[in-house]
Amino acid sequence: MNENCCRKQSPKNLPLACEAARARAGELNSISEYLYLSIMFAEAFPELSGYFEKLSMEEMHHHRALGELILRLGGDPAERSTVRNSGGINLCQDCDSRAPVAATRALKNNIVGERKDCENYRRLAAIAERCGDVSAATLFSKFAADEARHAKEQEKMLK
Ligand SMILES: [Fe+2]
Ligand SMILES: [Fe+2]
Repeated sequence: MNENCCRKQSPKNLPLACEAARARAGELNSISEYLYLSIMFAEAFPELSGYFEKLSMEEMHHHRALGELILRLGGDPAERSTVRNSGGINLCQDCDSRAPVAATRALKNNIVGERKDCENYRRLAAIAERCGDVSAATLFSKFAADEARHAKEQEKMLK
């Protein structure tokens, strides 16, 4: 029998599992937002579109790892979030002049989001450390570094 079937939610693990579930909902949103941007910029900026797709895959790995962590902590990694994209990109008319403005706006929004995610994972790493969960702390620290890199890479694209 799968040992996960016998796992009971421990009250000790609950706050960390809840934090991981919230972060995981954010990852799902990031996956969807980067895919949305990848689709919208595919024609005007194929390289940028490919980069957004790559980021969405990286966020997918975060999403999966957080699901595995929630399971280890005794929770159910079933997703119950509502995904929302920024929307509002319209490049149908006058693509040449609209696309650079829309891309700049998307990059700026993404940088703000990535910085927030980085801060949040640093906070979660500190919580996990206080709980004595070294592997969760290591995971959150790695994610904080990933989100910081995502912000830096997009900052470079704005220059
Ligand atoms: Fe992420
Ligand atoms: Fe990210």
